Amino acid sequence: MVVQPTREDKFSFGLWTVGWRAVDPFGSATRAPLDPAEAVHKLAGLGAWGITFHDDDLIPFGSDDASREQHIKRFRTALDETGLVVPMATTNLFGHPVFKEGALTNNDRDIRRYALRKIMRNVDLAAELGASTYVLWGGREGSETDAGKDVRAALDRYREGIDTVAQYVLDQGYDLRLALEPKPNEPRGDIFLPTVGHALAFIATLEHHEMVGLNPEVGHEQMAGLNVVHGIGQALWQGKLFHIDLNGQRGPRYDQDLIFGHGDVLSSFFLVDLLENGGYEGPRHFDYKPLRTEDFDGVWASAAANMRSYLLLRERARAFRADPRVQEALAAARVPALAEPTLAEGERPADLKADRSAFEEFDPDAAAERGYGLAHLSQLAFEHLLGHQES
Ligand code: GCO
Ligand code: MN
Ligand code: MN
Repeated sequence: MVVQPTREDKFSFGLWTVGWRAVDPFGSATRAPLDPAEAVHKLAGLGAWGITFHDDDLIPFGSDDASREQHIKRFRTALDETGLVVPMATTNLFGHPVFKEGALTNNDRDIRRYALRKIMRNVDLAAELGASTYVLWGGREGSETDAGKDVRAALDRYREGIDTVAQYVLDQGYDLRLALEPKPNEPRGDIFLPTVGHALAFIATLEHHEMVGLNPEVGHEQMAGLNVVHGIGQALWQGKLFHIDLNGQRGPRYDQDLIFGHGDVLSSFFLVDLLENGGYEGPRHFDYKPLRTEDFDGVWASAAANMRSYLLLRERARAFRADPRVQEALAAARVPALAEPTLAEGERPADLKADRSAFEEFDPDAAAERGYGLAHLSQLAFEHLLGHQES
């Protein structure tokens, strides 16, 4: 099998991923700055479809209007030359020291107003470049000490902030949806909306909740010790999977942002299976960091590796689904039977109560004897993942 990404695969990358200079808390940059136009050309050459950015990735913070226009123009030209699209954009509300205590939830009102203006300015650019999703990752929204933040007031201000951005999008007539990105910690000790579940509950309280969904990141749920397939499954179920950040993470520790598949590979397999069969049609966006050890050859090898991992996992997931032994094992485990409603059509609680076969005549001990065959099914998945086909 030749593993070659095409535009139809909808692979996209953040400018900040391949452009990461590998500054970490213990050491300075190991790579030179990357010209955004070059990133566009290189990614297009590798078979990517889209590129995304924070305002400050494209236009260095503090640029005057004239140089801002120049940066945008260069980027646009690269897009036109390659056909790469901009499906998503976002705001850097974490880099500048002004955001050290938060942006939309900063205790200082003038900083909250400034943050909103910074978002609005880049929302205009996102719309101009044809993006359909605007991501909000609140990396600095949180605290290190519970003494310094009234959580309920912070959530009021968070809601006010997101409602304001949504209203702005509507007032401007932009065709954009907002996607919140949960993360449990880093850079703040504790970040608000730490998981998919917290964010979904928050979204339900918003004025324009229908235009706000999620951009879950694989590694972020795993940092919280959670099953990312379940989190993304619930986001899909609620119609809220607007976008996704694919990467790799090895358990609860610092945010590793590894190449997709290079963390929990079994979970990546089931995630690809879910995305491919669960009705998700959005971008397959990679939010990873090329290892600090890499030169630019390594950067482009790692970008290609993300797409290759996805395609290989997709291939394995398809083989798994198509295998008659898997179909049989799924049936034996009664997996398809879960789609059948528990009550019959029109059945009322009183009807269930009157159904003697459901309780009085039901034999729980006999039912408890049924095996589900999940060891076999799970091993079939594992063997397909390894590319083993029984002959
Ligand atoms: C992180 C986040 C970010 C966001 C990005 C877009 O942990 O650093 O994942 O990379 O995805 O800011 O909102
Ligand atoms: Mn991350
Ligand atoms: Mn991310």
